[in-house]
Amino acid sequence: MEEQIKNIQTEAIEAVKKAMSLADLDDIRVKYLGKKGSFSAIFRSMKDLSPEEKPKVGKFVNEARTLIETEIQAKNEVLKENELQDRLENETIDITLPGRAPRLGHLHPITLTLNRIKEIFLRMGFSIEEGPEIEEDYYNFELLNLPKDHPARDMQDSFYITEEILMRTQTSPVQARTMKAHKNNEPIRMIAPGRVYRRDDYDATHSPMFTQVEGLVIDKGITFADLKGTLELALREIFQKQVGVRFRPSFFPFTEPSTEVDISCVMCGGKGCRVCKGTGYLEILGAGMVHPRVLEMSGYNYKKVSGFAFGLGVERIAMLSYGIDDLRLFYDNDVRFLNKF
Ligand code: DAH
Repeated sequence: MEEQIKNIQTEAIEAVKKAMSLADLDDIRVKYLGKKGSFSAIFRSMKDLSPEEKPKVGKFVNEARTLIETEIQAKNEVLKENELQDRLENETIDITLPGRAPRLGHLHPITLTLNRIKEIFLRMGFSIEEGPEIEEDYYNFELLNLPKDHPARDMQDSFYITEEILMRTQTSPVQARTMKAHKNNEPIRMIAPGRVYRRDDYDATHSPMFTQVEGLVIDKGITFADLKGTLELALREIFQKQVGVRFRPSFFPFTEPSTEVDISCVMCGGKGCRVCKGTGYLEILGAGMVHPRVLEMSGYNYKKVSGFAFGLGVERIAMLSYGIDDLRLFYDNDVRFLNKF
């Protein structure tokens, strides 16, 4: 029996030496040490041995098993190392190949236009203010001299959330918010860019959501001449050329007098074309001298200070400066269009 064990041991160790892969090694483990392996058979036949011989043979078998296990373990390490080496050699990466360039996005044309406008007004000493897009009726209308039953509210039909809360229809409420944040007739020179919402059509020139830039200047002795000078300069900067600027009388409840400002048509230079409908001019913004009531309602003394305000449409300006004839292109998210900027 001992002879038999010795033979199995020699055979197993020989097999381990010849094993070429981890899989080979596993087969060997099963063949000799597994449940149905050679040693299990020997243990089973031990029941026929005499009581004196049993422990001796048992010890012998265990020693042989341990020896084989040690050999398998050692070989296992060697094979693992070899396999790693093979993989390192075969699975090399060519780090000199050019990488895949990530696709870079860029700013949206409306953001680009807005940034230009902001930069121009910052240079003129204006601050940038913000207000909420979900606004109180009180700021959006009341404080702007548009009481509940005022007919001018009809032009700005809105999305109401409750009777008193709505999606703001204009950036003008930021005027009131900014005035209320100041005391003692402190001067103000601010712009307030942002989105506004109206219950409106969606076509080449309308959208229920669009972007405005509000402006407000308050100080001692501000006159219509300041309004004219500031807006003329800003518009020439925005359009980067000597555009003609025209002031037409108009009406807004929060300014008196009020004006609408046109620029000479950027498409035809004022000769008259389809874009300006033959008039040579394009309407670009609304403005005026801040109404005394508006100053008063937000805590300013109209006897001591005066101011002007304006509101311009950013999509309109972007369309004119890039020569785009359909406003919807800005919101369709078509990359072919967006890539042009
Ligand atoms: N809020 C006006 C609108 O959305 C635009 C406007 C006109 C703003 C005159 C002003 C202003 O500040 O003085 O139609």
